[in-house]
Amino acid sequence: MKMRIFSEFRTNNSVTLHCGDCLDLLKELPDESVDLVITSPPYCMGKEYEDPHNDIASFREQHTRMFDDLYRVVKSGGSVCWQVGYHISERCVVPLDCIVYEIFTSMSEHYEIPFILRNRIIWTFGHGLNSTNRFSGRHETILWFTKGAQTVFNLDDVRVPQKYPGKRYYKGPNKGQLSGNPLGKNPSDVWDIPNVKSKHVEKTDHPCQFPVALPQRLIKALTNPNALVLDPFMGSGTTGVAALLEGRRFVGAELNKKYYDISKQRIRDAADGKAKIREDKPVIEPNLNAAVAKLPEEFRKLREAHNEEE
Ligand SMILES: C[S@@+](CC[C@H](N)C(=O)[O-])C[C@H]1O[C@@H](n2cnc3c(N)ncnc32)[C@H](O)[C@@H]1O
Repeated sequence: MKMRIFSEFRTNNSVTLHCGDCLDLLKELPDESVDLVITSPPYCMGKEYEDPHNDIASFREQHTRMFDDLYRVVKSGGSVCWQVGYHISERCVVPLDCIVYEIFTSMSEHYEIPFILRNRIIWTFGHGLNSTNRFSGRHETILWFTKGAQTVFNLDDVRVPQKYPGKRYYKGPNKGQLSGNPLGKNPSDVWDIPNVKSKHVEKTDHPCQFPVALPQRLIKALTNPNALVLDPFMGSGTTGVAALLEGRRFVGAELNKKYYDISKQRIRDAADGKAKIREDKPVIEPNLNAAVAKLPEEFRKLREAHNEEE
C-alpha cells in the first residue's frame, strides 16, 4: 500500500510535509512531541534559495525568532542537531556554530531544563572550492544538544570498522586477548563522509544537500524506532529519507515549492524502497599504485624549479 504523505500534522502520521515557513509548522506541533531535530539552516552564503540581503544579523534574527517554539516542541531528553558551516564576508570567516551555540545556550538558560551541548561533530569531506588566499575549507560542523539529560544513545548501531581489529592487549591481565569491540569502534566526533557534488548518486537540483549518511547516523544513534524526527529547513528532504530508511516518523518544512516537490518525491521513493543513497561506508584510501597517484613529470620539474628559486 502506498504511504500517505500528510500536510497537516497528526501524531500518528508517518510523514508530514509543510510547504511554507518553518515557523508556521513549529506553531502547529504539540509541546514535547519531537524526539530529534536535524537541520541545516540557510547560512547566508548567497545561495539561490536565499534572500541576497541575508547576512549574519539575519541569521541571528532567524534563530532567535524560532528558538522558543523549537525548544517547546522537543521532548525532555530529546536531541537537536544543527549543521552549519562558515559565512565568509569581506575576506573574514565567521564560524556559524559559535552563533548557534551562543543563542541556544543563552536562550535555553531561562528554562527549567536547558539545552546541553553533547558534541561538536566535525564533518569533513574531500572536495570543494580551492582557495588561493587561505586554506581550502574541507569541513563543517554539527552541534548536538540535548534538552536536559539525554535519554537515547545507541552507540552499537553506529560503530565503524577498526583500522586494526586484530589488535590484542600486550600486557596486564587480558594479555593476548583482543582489545577492540567486536562490533567496531566509536565513530568519534570527526566524520569523513563525502559531500554531495555533481557526480554523487544522491544529487538533486538542490544546490546544498547534505548526504543521507549524515542524518542517518544521528537518527540511529539518538532515537529508537518510530521516534519523530523534525527538519524545519528540509531542502531536498535528506533527513526525511534517512528517517524513513530507519523506520522513524518524519515532519519537515520547506519554503521553496521546487525543493518541497523534490523532497516529497525523494521521501516517497524511500518509502517505496527506491531511494538512491550512498551507503555509510569508510572512505576508501587511494590506491597508491594507480597511475593518477604518481607525480606527473611536469609537476616534478615545476616543483624543482620552485624549490631552486627559494
Ligand atoms: C541548507 S538548505 C537545507 C538542505 C538540506 N539539508 C538537504 O539535504 O537538502 C536550507 C533550506 O531551507 C529553506 N528555507 C529557508 N528559509 C526557510 C523557512 N523560513 N522555512 C522553511 N524552509 C526555509 C531553503 O529554501 C533551503 O532549501
